[in-house]
Amino acid sequence: MTEAFRLRPFEDGDFLRVEGDRLLLDGVDLTALAGSHGTPLFVYSARRLRENARGLQEAFRRHHPKSSVCFASKACANLSVLRLVGEEGVDLEVNSGGELQKARRAGFDPSRLVFNGVAKSEAEIALALDPPIKAINVDSPFELARIADVASARGVRARVALRGVPGVEGGSTAGIETGSTRSKFGMTAGEIEVCLDMAAARPDAIAVVGLHVHIGSQMTDLGLYAQAARYVAQRAATIRDRFPADFAHVNIGGGFPINYVKYDDQSAAIGYFHSHVDAGDIAATAAPILTAALGAGIEILTEPGRAMTSNAAVCLARVEGIKERDGIRWLYLDTGYSVLPESGFGWYFHMVTANRAAESETAAMRVVGPLCDSIDVYFDMEGESKLAALLAAEPALGAHEALLRRKLVQTPPFRELPAGTGPGDVIAILDTGAYQVEMANHYCGRLRPAAVMVGQDGAVTTIRRRDTLDDLIAAEEV
Ligand SMILES: Cc1ncc(COP(=O)(O)O)c(C=O)c1O
Repeated sequence: MTEAFRLRPFEDGDFLRVEGDRLLLDGVDLTALAGSHGTPLFVYSARRLRENARGLQEAFRRHHPKSSVCFASKACANLSVLRLVGEEGVDLEVNSGGELQKARRAGFDPSRLVFNGVAKSEAEIALALDPPIKAINVDSPFELARIADVASARGVRARVALRGVPGVEGGSTAGIETGSTRSKFGMTAGEIEVCLDMAAARPDAIAVVGLHVHIGSQMTDLGLYAQAARYVAQRAATIRDRFPADFAHVNIGGGFPINYVKYDDQSAAIGYFHSHVDAGDIAATAAPILTAALGAGIEILTEPGRAMTSNAAVCLARVEGIKERDGIRWLYLDTGYSVLPESGFGWYFHMVTANRAAESETAAMRVVGPLCDSIDVYFDMEGESKLAALLAAEPALGAHEALLRRKLVQTPPFRELPAGTGPGDVIAILDTGAYQVEMANHYCGRLRPAAVMVGQDGAVTTIRRRDTLDDLIAAEEV
């Protein structure tokens, strides 16, 4: 047993705590919940969601009172979650006509919605104009022309914010970095100029109300937020000079990180799963730069997704099988990357055996999912294989193995779990409240998971029913 394990750092106030041998979430026994509702099961905490919604709004308002949070609903567009954060005063960022419709269904007034995306269809633009939302974030001159045409045809003026490329790189992994011209998002200075000229030429169809950036997800480097804020401050001032009557907000996007790694001795070699940066630090970095350049009257929008919902839920999985191979235990869960799609990209999620949470005798195990695919594992199969291939091809690289491992292998090879963990046990996979249910799919004929919410009174409500066999086949019975 390591010192770190004995400290049980996954315990988190009332949110997660151990009573007897059981792990509880807001006082509810997770093992019992897995028994009554089945697995895989996402368990959300209403209390934690409300705390996050308030905390994220407060973080920027402390530095700049005229600030609003537009929750990136792609992180979790469950109607119950949307309604709950909406009650706390949070607005929404949507990324498709589907998310726009869900936002409306959840009761959000159009004036509380911003619409992002790189390939909006005419139909989606029409939806955003009828009735008009707070801002359509424009990704290219081509798109602005399309928006202007759709607006003209309807005789309305589209409120748009221009998405810029702040030239920010690093801090996370390339697949989720969005702030440089290497990514597909946003506009260069030249492209923004074209948009400004177009807006000046078509004042009846376009109102330039804002400037937008988004630098990536799980961005742990405060310096990158400072860089993005300086870009926004400088660019926004010139755009406002051209459109002083309309220009009203700057939007610095989301990307606020959370700390996924609970044990120092299990930290991933690549550091971005381990974060000590929070929204308060980001606000303290970015808001003063924006206020100094643009004044207290400008509205600052943010679009956190992950930071709103990740740490408000756990996913419960059951151990379905076991293998002992070369002295190492392999645990086969009923939950793989069809339920936790980010695990398929090598994301680290911490695990706790919910029905053995107090056991102190632990062992290192390989933990894997049920899908018919070698990457359906909770370690970095690709990275480990690349490292082995490099070392085999060039033995001299052995001198740099530690560095290569740090750069190539994203997640730890083993999970330290109570030594008795085996079939029938319930594994709580932490910090899974963002991007998982939304991306879950039917691969390998798996049913998409159910989700429940623990209310502040301790009552458990189903907020998403588990798919049925009919859901699996209905679209194909044509
Ligand atoms: C434009 C935009 N805003 C906000 C977000 C939310 O990012 P995060 O969940 O990392 O806060 C995303 C995520 O992809 C995005 O593309």
